[in-house]
Amino acid sequence: MQDDVRPMFAANWKMHLGPEETASFVQRFADLHEVRQGARVVFFPPYLSVGAFLASSRSRPDLELGVQDVHQETAGAHTGAVSAPMAKQAGARWALAGHSERRREFGDDDVAVAAKVARIIDEGLRPVLCVGETLEEREAGELEVVLSRQIEAVLSSLAADRLPSLTYAYEPVWAIGTGRTASPDDAAQAHAVVRQEIRRCGGRTDAVILYGGSVKPGNIDALLAAPGVDGVLVGGASLDPESFAAICAGGV
Ligand code: PGA
Repeated sequence: MQDDVRPMFAANWKMHLGPEETASFVQRFADLHEVRQGARVVFFPPYLSVGAFLASSRSRPDLELGVQDVHQETAGAHTGAVSAPMAKQAGARWALAGHSERRREFGDDDVAVAAKVARIIDEGLRPVLCVGETLEEREAGELEVVLSRQIEAVLSSLAADRLPSLTYAYEPVWAIGTGRTASPDDAAQAHAVVRQEIRRCGGRTDAVILYGGSVKPGNIDALLAAPGVDGVLVGGASLDPESFAAICAGGV
């Protein structure tokens, strides 16, 4: 898949915005955000809000849809889980894999994340592989080791023809939901490591790499100006249409 678009603006709503709130968000956001040529906007609402998202964004095909996670199996006795084929059938084009909250709260380890990415690709969805270090790991000087391990676990398990379809998100765990953003220099340095690891593992070195972690309207321009930052994955600041529309207008 070579239709990489930069900049890419992704909204990870986590466990926020039910169907009604989603419908009013999309209505307001569509008023504020004009179609932006040469940019991509993707929303990752909770599963139960997927239908409301699609119904309310019907006149705006530029607003793409993804899901926050999928199970690695296609079907079966997995209470509470959602499969990649279901996500696709429901209208999603994208899926996150390996978000740090999934790794921490739901035990998604590198092996599970690799299986999920493979499944996402096999079902014709586009994965966004999330990687990033904790504060302890960063302070122990383990940034490269952690990123290398997380990326290698996934890329080494994929057949060569699948490698090109990945999009990545570098999200330092210490910057997620904390108000502490990585400086543009920190982001540039980490993105260079991610790109170097992608190259080492045989992936496509011009892949889109998003930055995530306390992105806001006030820091979007500086982050997008950092070398190697191709877009952003936004949590808290994507829950408000005004604020996310301001972010999606950034970097020009
Ligand atoms: P945040 O979350 O923007 O609230 O820090 C980002 C993310 O977890 O994707």
